[in-house]
Amino acid sequence: MSKKEYKRYLVTSALPYANGPVHIGHLAGVYVPSDIYVRYLRLRGRDVIWVCGSDEHGVPITIKARKEGVTPQDVVDKYNAIIKSSFEGLGISFDIYSRTTSPTHYKTASEFFRTLYDKGVFSEATSKQYYDEEAKTFLADRYIMGTCPHCQAEGAYGDQCEKCGSTLNPTDLINPKSMISGSAPVMKETTHWYLPLDKYEPKLREWILEGHKEWKSNVYGQCKSWMDLGLQPRAVSRDLNWGIPVPVEGAEGKVLYVWFDAPIGYISATKDLTPDWEKYWKSEDTKLVHFIGKDNIVFHCIVFPAMLMAHGDYILPENVPANEFLNLEGDKISTSRNWAVWLNEYLEDMPGKQDVLRYVLCANAPETKDNDFTWKDYQARNNNELVAVLGNFVNRALVLTHKYYGGVVPEAGELNDYDKEILAELPRIKVALEENLENYRFREALKEAMNIARLGNKYLADTEPWKVVKTDPERVKTILNVALQIVANTAVAIEPFMPFSAEKLLRMLAIEKIDWEQIGSSNIVEAGHTISTPELLFEKIEDDVIERQVKKLDDAKRANEAANAKVAEQKDSVSFDDFGKMDIRVSTVVAAEKVAKTKKLLKLTVDTGIDTRTIVSGIAEYYTPEELVGRQILVLVNLLPRELKGITSEGMILMASDATGKLTLLAPEQNVPNGSQVG
Ligand code: 2FM
Ligand code: ZN
Repeated sequence: MSKKEYKRYLVTSALPYANGPVHIGHLAGVYVPSDIYVRYLRLRGRDVIWVCGSDEHGVPITIKARKEGVTPQDVVDKYNAIIKSSFEGLGISFDIYSRTTSPTHYKTASEFFRTLYDKGVFSEATSKQYYDEEAKTFLADRYIMGTCPHCQAEGAYGDQCEKCGSTLNPTDLINPKSMISGSAPVMKETTHWYLPLDKYEPKLREWILEGHKEWKSNVYGQCKSWMDLGLQPRAVSRDLNWGIPVPVEGAEGKVLYVWFDAPIGYISATKDLTPDWEKYWKSEDTKLVHFIGKDNIVFHCIVFPAMLMAHGDYILPENVPANEFLNLEGDKISTSRNWAVWLNEYLEDMPGKQDVLRYVLCANAPETKDNDFTWKDYQARNNNELVAVLGNFVNRALVLTHKYYGGVVPEAGELNDYDKEILAELPRIKVALEENLENYRFREALKEAMNIARLGNKYLADTEPWKVVKTDPERVKTILNVALQIVANTAVAIEPFMPFSAEKLLRMLAIEKIDWEQIGSSNIVEAGHTISTPELLFEKIEDDVIERQVKKLDDAKRANEAANAKVAEQKDSVSFDDFGKMDIRVSTVVAAEKVAKTKKLLKLTVDTGIDTRTIVSGIAEYYTPEELVGRQILVLVNLLPRELKGITSEGMILMASDATGKLTLLAPEQNVPNGSQVG
């Protein structure tokens, strides 16, 4: 089945929820691999369209809107714009980035539901659900909070306790409360439409378990275990006021379940892209490929295909190459805990480094197992691979061509056996590169593309043109001609992975376009052609840049912990006189140094206005000595002196300490004379 000849490709990437920006986990799991795949197909001249867009319905969006005091539409407008432009910034080259709030989508999703409804596909069932009598609305699981029956934590949601991680039903909660009105919800009957997945199970089994044994083992395995557990009917409607209304009489207040409408978004996006959309969705010779993360497997391999089967007019996906998860610095990426590297922030913090991120996320993609992103690895891959291998090879070849021949490509002359041996590697790499790309093995494919640059580096290191030039200048012409052919091969081979660098490289070669088919050739750059001035393809990334990013993550983690931690209880009361005994003065730090052999202590010399004295303070984890010198602070000056690590400390620096213990200096709102009293 997989060996079938296809005339065209329809590629989809999971529609990101428009309730937050996209992060590196999304990129590594879905968008970087699909961009590589589609760029490759385009380079090969295949007929391909690639659709994506924002997923703009669902309960979390309504919760975010409520929290921020805006409408759900405001939320999705905001994040759709952020997501769309950050994708563009990273060179993610969708043919269309649509939205599930578009009129085309409303119409398409309603008609889809209606077709299934009219065919009698759905079953209808009445069940009891929590209802908020004050707000006059049924409550989504996420809108009910209470005490967790397992760990007794307060604030567990109707679907999950975030403290102990248990999956819950709203009825499991002790003392449930509506998050809308705060009142205790009551049980009320409601009717919904169900997609009878159980009825489609035999067809799904046949199609996946027999027909698609070639799917990635993580995908195939997950599908198999779902089906082995037995598929159940799934509700495709919800009681909610945000979504696409159920197009059936008497269904007021009910909308399509977000996972019913979202995948139909792929169809709507295609409609918005081309009037020829039916050719892509309804012809057996279209290869439909869904790129998704592993949390979406069941929806794309079971639920959506069952919907498509039930409808009858559409093709099914030929493959669903879902990735596993990317972790960050050893921890699960979490939007709610702000433990993520957000694409929009990356693009701002690291201008011009799109390809570095694309490279690192592909080289380390969680294709077969969960993987970890660390900033150290990011730095190492940039410095040791992109700069040292790719950048170095290209730069040497181009600079030497300028140095020896004024930028004019020399004649190849007679190739020796070693030259031929090296060049013979290129067609072999092309085969491996294609084989990997066609089969969604992008990490391996990237290695092959980099092998071309590695080959070039080795060639220059072995042939040493900078030495040979003194003894055999004719030979150098051959060497550089060969090296430039390898540079040209590199330029095309890296395009799917690093399009910005590929473009730059073509510019440096002064060549408009090199066809994919030319990979493997040793006659791409013609003798006599003049190349442009070389620029650096990649630059070394220094430690301080990486340290800033690590600090940013740490700060986010702390801020989140502090926000979730309990504020300390109020201490016992003191009298006005007691308070008056404390002599607090505005002072200036005049010198600061670390206390040897300690991690936390700084020795500060402060001008209190009364005198200049020494204070030892435990703030070394939060401030460097340089940051402190010259700053005004508040000092409790009449505290009895204490010995700390052999130093007499005369007073105490006042600081705010958050619930996690993080310290922040206190200072007057504007500079005042040292010695000014506080109180
Ligand atoms: O998991 C998610 O982020 C979903 N918004 C993906 C939807 S994919 C498709 F079905 F639209
Ligand atoms: Zn719990």
